[in-house]
Amino acid sequence: MKKIIKNGTIVTAADTYKADLLIENGKIAMIGQQLDESGAEVIDAKGCYVFPGGIDPHTHLDMPFGGTVTKDDFQSGTIAAAFGGTTTIIDFCLTNKGEPLQKAIETWHNKAKGKAVIDYSFHLMISEINDDVLAELPKVIEEEGITSFKVFMAYKNVFQADDGTLYRTLLAAKELGALVMVHAENGDVIDYLIKQALEQGHTDPIYHALTRPPELEGEATGRACQLTELADSQLYVVHVSCAQAVEKIAEARNKGLNVWGETCPQYLVLDQSYLERPNFEGAKYVWSPPLREKWHQEVLWNALKNGQLQTLGSDQCSFDFKGQKELGRGDFSKIPNGGPIIEDRVSILFSEGVKKGRITLNQFVDIMSTRIAKLFGLFPKKGTIAVGSDADLVIFDPNVERVISAKTHHMAVDYNPFEGMKVTGEPVSVLSRGEFVIRDKAFVGKPGSGQYIKREKYGKYAMSTKDEQLTI
Ligand code: URP
Ligand code: ZN
Ligand code: ZN
Repeated sequence: MKKIIKNGTIVTAADTYKADLLIENGKIAMIGQQLDESGAEVIDAKGCYVFPGGIDPHTHLDMPFGGTVTKDDFQSGTIAAAFGGTTTIIDFCLTNKGEPLQKAIETWHNKAKGKAVIDYSFHLMISEINDDVLAELPKVIEEEGITSFKVFMAYKNVFQADDGTLYRTLLAAKELGALVMVHAENGDVIDYLIKQALEQGHTDPIYHALTRPPELEGEATGRACQLTELADSQLYVVHVSCAQAVEKIAEARNKGLNVWGETCPQYLVLDQSYLERPNFEGAKYVWSPPLREKWHQEVLWNALKNGQLQTLGSDQCSFDFKGQKELGRGDFSKIPNGGPIIEDRVSILFSEGVKKGRITLNQFVDIMSTRIAKLFGLFPKKGTIAVGSDADLVIFDPNVERVISAKTHHMAVDYNPFEGMKVTGEPVSVLSRGEFVIRDKAFVGKPGSGQYIKREKYGKYAMSTKDEQLTI
């Protein structure tokens, strides 16, 4: 059935205007004034913004990590995402050395099948580069539509790849049309600092932050940028947490390199002092990279505003406090790294960003949706409100005030790192390809209705850094 959204204010990365939206066959069919309502279900969006659905470029659902498995799977994780105004996620598919990439991809398809309530895609982790991997990559791109590869520069003896692997991945990505993503921290030095801290009897959560100083994120970010320049390739730095990393990304972009940066809500509003909370509560705030001293937050906000950083990911990687985070009692290095963020990513950016005047409304849409769609080959199917685009839409009340809490969130975990935080603005209804997933703040979607999305190659819609600088 046709649907018409009336009386709302449409907001894209470029424009803000009042118009009606006609939805037909899951797509936006018409945008205009006083559209013909006959045969259509009318949805009143009075007093609300209508945004393109959020795209979360960084999730870890149902992922084995830190001696356990992340608590939110593709069902609870995508339901929570939808409540928060996200209609597409790109999840990280882990690979194992010596195993065909296709086997890992099948594993990830099976995790999502029958569960996802919104659309999803995968990035592929590259843990080694050899003839077998190189032979498989074209198929990964052409047949699976996986056009982004992830290399970890940290987590020694777990996920960490060496610089040769990163460099060869950058070369392959350049040739094949993919974007290389890095977790940029110097894993070798961190490994030494962790051993040293434990030998000295330092076991509390705060030592997680103290053994991963921002200099080591800046160093790894700079190294990845240099290798990108040498390979003449393209790089996306995930979860940027500190001024040192922003500086390296800005330096690379000023040289005209195709280097892009993502930050996450936790780095924008939480700080290192949370790791000192008593009764092991600090473990709830263990991420890698770690939360930083408060002054870094302003650097990150400014970088989003001036375009040195372009996107916001959740890095959703949730563990219960009880039984999972607790694995690290008596040894901070055993605390599973990560937290539940998928649901609050969009609201925090709106409330702390737009409402507090740090970014504009159109920048907000760009950062949480449009730019991500362009960088990761989803645009213009996703990430915008235009005739022919998927009707992935959020009807958002910008004035409602609420308090974030584990008591009311929809993630499957027993705490929320933003517990007690007041935010302004909330999705009222969320549509995925024209069908309600959230209607009047209630879940009405269906597990399994989310579709796997094959993505376009890098570069089709992402402007190069050079083009972008010309238009500023
Ligand atoms: O602490 C984090 N970030 N956990 C998720 C895995 C990763 O490094 O992205
Ligand atoms: Zn990471
Ligand atoms: Zn991550």
